Amino acid sequence: MGENVDAHLLEQLKKLQAKYNVMGQDLSSYLDGLLYSDYLTYWDYIHLDTLLSLQSTETSFPDEKVFILYHQITELYFRMVLLELEQISTRPNIDATFFVERVNRIIRYFQNLVSSFEIMVVGMEKEQFLKFRMALLPASGFQSAQYRLIEIASTDMINLVSVESRDDLQHADLSNLLEKLYWRSGATELASGKKTLTLQQFEAKYMGTFFEAGTKYKSKNLLQIFKNHFSDSERRDEIVERLRLYDNLANIQWRFAHLKSAGHYLQKNQREIKATGGTNWQKYLPSRIQKVMFFPELWSAQEHAEWGKGVLASVGSH
Ligand code: HEM
Repeated sequence: MGENVDAHLLEQLKKLQAKYNVMGQDLSSYLDGLLYSDYLTYWDYIHLDTLLSLQSTETSFPDEKVFILYHQITELYFRMVLLELEQISTRPNIDATFFVERVNRIIRYFQNLVSSFEIMVVGMEKEQFLKFRMALLPASGFQSAQYRLIEIASTDMINLVSVESRDDLQHADLSNLLEKLYWRSGATELASGKKTLTLQQFEAKYMGTFFEAGTKYKSKNLLQIFKNHFSDSERRDEIVERLRLYDNLANIQWRFAHLKSAGHYLQKNQREIKATGGTNWQKYLPSRIQKVMFFPELWSAQEHAEWGKGVLASVGSH
C-alpha cells in the first residue's frame, strides 16, 4: 500500500470517527464488526431467494406461474412509478430539469409495461388460463392498491371520480369524492347498489390508505406540481408534451393493452366470460367509457371527445 493510500485511509478514519462521535458511538467497535462480517453477495443484497419463493400457485398448471410472475413484475414497476411520484411531490424548490427527468423515468416504466403486456395476451395457453383463473376467485388485478395510488399521486381526486358525477362534484370534499371513485361505481351493480365481493374486500383493506394518500397528495400530486411550478415556465411546451405522453401511456395505452388480454381470454363468440372480479368488464374497462385522464386541462375538447377511441378497432383481435 503506497503512502498516498495510507494518508487517504487516515483521512477516512478521521471522518468516520467524527461521524460516530456525534452519535456517541465507539468507531473501534464498529470496525471490529466490519472485520468479522462476511462480504456482501449479490443474492443476499437483492434477496433473490425470497424473491424466487414468492410464486406460490393455486393449481398445478405451469402457466399460472407466468400469470403470477407478470403481475409481480408489474407491481414492481408500479412501485418504481410511485417512488418517482413521491420524489416529485416532496422535492423542495423543484426545478424543471428534475421534474422532466423524473417524469421521463415514469414514461419509460409505463412504456415497458405497455410493450410487455403481450406476455399476458399471447404468452399463456388459453385452456390453462381459463382453468386456473377459477382458483383465483374473487381476486382480481382490480385490487391493485399501487395502481390506485399512482392515480391519486398523479392527479386531483375529481379526475378519478366516475365520469357522470364529475360535473356535480367539482367542489366536493375528499370523503365525497372518494365515495364516487370511478372504480367503485364500476364494481357496483347500478340497479341494486350491490358491490362485488372483490370491491368489498378491497375497500375494507385499503380505503383508509386511499384517504391518507388523497390528503397527502391534494396539493402535491403531479398535476398540482405542474400547475404551481411550471404552467408559466419557459419549458412549458416540453413539459406539457411529457405529461400528455404519460397520460396517454397510463390511461389509454396501458388500459388498452390490458383490455386486449381480457378480450383474448374472456370473449368467446360474442359471449362474455365472467371476470374474476365480477365487473361487467366490457362496459367498465375501455378508456373511451371510463374517460380517466390525469391532466384533462392539457387535452383539447376534441381530444376529450375522442379519448380512447383510436385504439378501439382492434379490441379482441387476438
Ligand atoms: C390475462 C390477463 C388479465 C386478464 C384477463 C385481466 C382481466 C381483468 C378484468 C376482467 C378486470 C375488471 C375487473 C374484474 O371484474 O375482475 C381487470 C381489472 C384490472 N386488472 Fe386485470 N387482467 C389481466 C392481467 C392484469 C395484470 C397483469 C395486471 C397488473 C397488475 C392487471 C391489473 C388490473 C387492474 C389495475 C385492474 C383495474 C382497472 C381499472 O379499474 O380500470 N390485470 N382485469
